[in-house]
Amino acid sequence: MRNIAIIGTGYVGLVSGSGISDFGHNVICADINEDKIKLLNKGQIPIYEPGLEELVLRNVQANRLSFTTNLKEAIQKSEVVFIAVGTPQSENGEADISAVNAVAKTIGENLNNKKVICTKSTVPIGTGEIVSGIINENKSTEAEFEYVSNPEFLREGSAVKDFLWPDRIVIGSESEWAFEIMKDVYRPLYINDTPIVNTTVETAELIKYASNAFLSLKISYINEISALCEKVGADVHVVAKTMGSDGRISPKFLHPGPGFGGSCFPKDTSALVSMAQNKNVPMRTIQAAIETNVHQKKRMVIKLHALTGDFSGLTIGILGLAFKSKTDDVRESASLEMVGSLLKAGAQIKAYDPEANTSFTEFFPEITYCKTWEEAVKNTDAVAVMTEWNEFRTMDLKKLKYLMKSPIILDTRNILSRKELQKNGFSFDNVGRPMASMQ
Ligand code: UGA
Repeated sequence: MRNIAIIGTGYVGLVSGSGISDFGHNVICADINEDKIKLLNKGQIPIYEPGLEELVLRNVQANRLSFTTNLKEAIQKSEVVFIAVGTPQSENGEADISAVNAVAKTIGENLNNKKVICTKSTVPIGTGEIVSGIINENKSTEAEFEYVSNPEFLREGSAVKDFLWPDRIVIGSESEWAFEIMKDVYRPLYINDTPIVNTTVETAELIKYASNAFLSLKISYINEISALCEKVGADVHVVAKTMGSDGRISPKFLHPGPGFGGSCFPKDTSALVSMAQNKNVPMRTIQAAIETNVHQKKRMVIKLHALTGDFSGLTIGILGLAFKSKTDDVRESASLEMVGSLLKAGAQIKAYDPEANTSFTEFFPEITYCKTWEEAVKNTDAVAVMTEWNEFRTMDLKKLKYLMKSPIILDTRNILSRKELQKNGFSFDNVGRPMASMQ
C-alpha cells in the first residue's frame, strides 16, 4: 500500500484517484477549487461519468480516498504525486501548460522527501524537462525526486472501465526506482498481465499524442468515405465492418458521425501539428484529419438544410448536445456547430440531452431546453439526432411522427432503422447510408 496524491480533480484526476485507491492505495485528491472539494466531501460528483460515484463512495467509505484543498499536506504525505490538471488549447493551437507549471512550483516548494512526480495530463513533448526544472528551482530542501510521464487513455463516458481494464500502461521514466514504484501503483493490473510499457519520458509523451491523432485520423477517414458512399450508393457500415475485419485495420473508431469533438481529439491534433511545425516536421495527415472534421460538422448542417429548405422561421428539435453520449461535456460538440448555424439562419431550437442541458446553456442560453425527447420534438419542423444515447436509439417512431409538425429527421449517428423510418413516412437522412444501399 502506497501513499499517493493526485493534484487536479477533473475527470482524469478523479477517475485515476478513485481507481488507484480501488487498487488498495491511500489516495488524497487535491484541488485549489474549493467548490469542487466541498461537493466531493459531501459525496457528490461534480461531473457525470458512469460508475464514478460508486467507485468514489466505495473508496471513501474504506478510508482510502479523501479530498482536500491543502496541496501542501497532500504532497508532503505522499511518495507519488500525480499531476492531473487541465492543459487547454491556447490561441496558437498549442497546449497551455500553465496549470501544470503552477502545480510543479507548488510541488517544488513542498518537496520534503524523495518522491515520484508523475504527469498524467496530456502535455507537449518536452514538458517533463520543464516540470523537473521548475521543481528544482523551487526546492528549499535537499529532497530528491524522479520524474515520470504516465499518460492516460480514458474515454469520457467509459473512463472508469478504461481505468480499471486498460489495454496498456505507459510509464515514461529512466529511473529503475521510479519504475518499480509505478509498477506497484498499478500492481493489480500488472499481476493480471496488463502490458506495462517502460519508455523514456519523451516517448511516453509522444505515445499519447500519436494515439489520439491516429484515432482522429480513423474517424475523419471513415467520415470522408461516408461522403463517397452517399454519392455511389454504398453502405458505410458494411464498408467499415468489412475493412475492420482485417486485423491490420480493426473495426474500432471507424464509426461515421457528425465529426469528433470533446476535450481531447480537437485539442490534441492541433497541438501535435503545432509541436511538429516548431520542429519543421509537417503533419500533413493530421492537418487533413482536422480539416475533414471541421467540414464534417458543417456537412451535417448542409444535410439538414437539404431536408428542410430555408431554416428561417422553422423550429428544430436537437437530440443530444454533448460531444457524444454518456457525458455532460459539450466541448467542441457537433451540436454547437449545428445550433449556432440554425440560430444564425433564423430557426428556433428545442433541445434535449439526458445529461448536458446545463453545460450547453453556457454557450446558448437563448434556446429552449427540454426535460424529455418527447418535449423537445413536439411541434418541430425537423429533428436532428446528434448523439447516440439509447433513449434516442429506441424512440417510438410512431409517437415521434405524431408529436412532430412534419416528419423530417437527420440521424447523424446512424442509430435509427432506415426501414422503420421509411415505413413510418419520414423524410430522412443519415451519414453514409443512402437509400440505394438499403436491402
Ligand atoms: C479520447 C480517447 O479515446 C481516449 O483514449 C483519450 O484518453 C482521451 O481522448 C483523452 O485524451 O483524454 P474521449 O475524447 O473522451 O477519449 O472520447 P472518444 O470516445 O474517443 O470520442 C471522441 C469523439 O470521436 C466523439 O465526438 C465521438 O463521438 C467521436 N467518434 C468516436 C466517432 O465519431 N466515431 C468513432 O468511431 C469513435
